[in-house]
Amino acid sequence: MDKGMRIAINTGGGDAPGLNAVIKAVVMGADSRNWEVYGIKNGYAGLLNTDEMFRLTPAMVHDICSLGGTILGTTNKGNPFKMPITNLAGETEIRDVSDKVMDNFKRLRFDCLIAVGGDGSLEIAYDFFKKGMPVIGVPKTIDNDIRATVITFGFDTAVNIATEAIDRLHSTAKSHDRVMVVEVMGRNAGWIALHSGVSGSANVILIPEIPFDIDKICDHVSELELQGHHYAIVVVAEGAVPLGGRVIDKGNGEVGRQHVVLGGVGEYVAKEIARKTGKDTRSLVLGHLQRGGSPTTFDRLMGLRFGAAAVRMAEEKKFGTMVALNPPVVTAIPLSDVIGNIKRVPTDIDTIKTAREIGISFGD
Ligand code: F6P
Repeated sequence: MDKGMRIAINTGGGDAPGLNAVIKAVVMGADSRNWEVYGIKNGYAGLLNTDEMFRLTPAMVHDICSLGGTILGTTNKGNPFKMPITNLAGETEIRDVSDKVMDNFKRLRFDCLIAVGGDGSLEIAYDFFKKGMPVIGVPKTIDNDIRATVITFGFDTAVNIATEAIDRLHSTAKSHDRVMVVEVMGRNAGWIALHSGVSGSANVILIPEIPFDIDKICDHVSELELQGHHYAIVVVAEGAVPLGGRVIDKGNGEVGRQHVVLGGVGEYVAKEIARKTGKDTRSLVLGHLQRGGSPTTFDRLMGLRFGAAAVRMAEEKKFGTMVALNPPVVTAIPLSDVIGNIKRVPTDIDTIKTAREIGISFGD
């Protein structure tokens, strides 16, 4: 009889609603094959300090599908290939501690790591695969910007939250004859802004893929005014850029972060509209509200399907691949095809054409 597999699972990068559904499906799928699953806490930290690792049983996961966040914890710091280490003199240096992760993985006799993460975490998973670790990736991000999969779980929940927020802004904007600018997540791709903006009847949508001209936005607002529409809703992705300008960020924050913290473009756009049109203007940032809380039905199902597929792929020893949705099937895509490039919104996509045809401006 075949020896049962010992599976390790971690979640890395920003959390996304649906992560716990993946964990549940992995644990249940493995248990049905008499395999064991171990949860690695906080990305790869649990493979460096193995005290932060624990056996996951069906009893622990049976009711976690409806929970936001991840029961394993996550981080967007702590890449083992570029780990910031503070020495006794208080100086921080970047070291490669990936060999220690490999040693622990082998010592604990794991047969597979199921790495659930976004582009950064999947790249780390691929680097470990190249070092000999049997890895299967599961794509996760509310931004929906991972290549080779039509959708990632977390996106649907984030879009629903953003759409509901935009819906709520209409009445207050209309009551005050104001321009409301709402900044949503989407650092490299404008999927959340596009889907929520179109569905929430925004007047202007700004996405990283289409640099915006502030004068065009103001012309659109003024045109609406002439038509007797005295308020406007502008949805802006955090990674949207002014024509000829650059992305607005808040700097790196802590040492070893995998990305700079974006934010501020909504406020910039609001100020410019107020200055150029004289309209009363307010801005707000939805931020992590889009990531928190219970996943939608769609994201739960997507997470369960991805988790179950990852176990099937482990059984078939399809290491070095990522689970992907290519409707109607969930399939395995080589990690090498996925990393190093993200899925941006094609500017000729039907949803953008639809938006333009229903009167939405992209500031271009
Ligand atoms: O990548 C997903 C994302 O939600 C981005 O849209 C956002 O820029 C980033 O995570 C923020 O992550 P954190 O605040 O956790 O660093």
